[in-house]
Amino acid sequence: MTEIDYIKEIERLKKEKNAIILAHFYQTPDIQDIADYVGDSLALAQKASSADASIIVIAGVKFMAETAKILVPEKKVLIPDINAGCSLADSCTPEEFKKFIEENPGRTVVSYVNTSVEIKAMSDIICTSSNALQIIESLPENEKIIFAPDRNLGNYIKSKTTRDIIVWDGACHVHEKFSLEGILELKKKYKNARIIVHPECELPVRMIADFIGSTSALLKFTKEDNGEIYIVATEPGILHQMIKSNPNKKYIPAPPSDLSCACSECNYMKMITLEKIYYTILNEEPEIILDEEIIKRASKSVLRMFEVSSRIG
Ligand code: 13P
Ligand code: SF4
Repeated sequence: MTEIDYIKEIERLKKEKNAIILAHFYQTPDIQDIADYVGDSLALAQKASSADASIIVIAGVKFMAETAKILVPEKKVLIPDINAGCSLADSCTPEEFKKFIEENPGRTVVSYVNTSVEIKAMSDIICTSSNALQIIESLPENEKIIFAPDRNLGNYIKSKTTRDIIVWDGACHVHEKFSLEGILELKKKYKNARIIVHPECELPVRMIADFIGSTSALLKFTKEDNGEIYIVATEPGILHQMIKSNPNKKYIPAPPSDLSCACSECNYMKMITLEKIYYTILNEEPEIILDEEIIKRASKSVLRMFEVSSRIG
């Protein structure tokens, strides 16, 4: 049997079917390189909503594909592995969250995009790590807020604003695994290194950060900053774009607490492969199918995020 040239075949199928591939920064380099667009969660949602294509393939995790479907329900949205979930999204179930909202009445519900479509439908407004603080500060000052599901991002925002916020107790299994000691060891070795951290990391790691931001903010920082060495505390997929845009700098992935595992890699993101992308476009499945009613309710909170972001810039 002759081997399939996945890159060539994906290119051919994309043209034939008017399909585009939107990839998250945590995807493997081969996938980032064949994607039509690579970005953070916010940018992928924006690209999906303005895409001039019949088929949108999300090389990322399920909540990202669901967000795309919510925004363009008339289009076919595909995900190469339907089991590519997210531990953070899973840490907030609709039943428990409904109870939490009922126990804390009168609060505006701000949810991070890393949530299921059901949680989005229960929320007043969505945010991503790129715009969370701006979204919260866009709300009237006297509004009390529930923030879900990430306790680390939520507590980070709480430290930056005077708003009354209660935070759902969820977390990402990847970002909570970075080792404070391991990062400090690296810093001892590379004294000039800047420690750059995603806000989903725990407080001790955030406390030693020179810069905290979303994946796109971390990338921008390494592009514009005059440093030469960076210890990067987020999923190491992001290093590919850092190296591409500034190959002369050194980027060191922050180590996880357990060095015997690859636990700083998101096992869900890494479920996506070139082979799966090929078969997904070929067979036009797995497809994201959502109930019309839930799309209607979830789209309100996602569109409100877009409306606020475009107003405040
Ligand atoms: P960004 O929105 O910063 O890309 O983060 C997405 C994510 O899943 C982080 O773990
Ligand atoms: Fe979800 Fe964490 Fe993976 Fe991001 S890194 S997709 S938050 S499990």
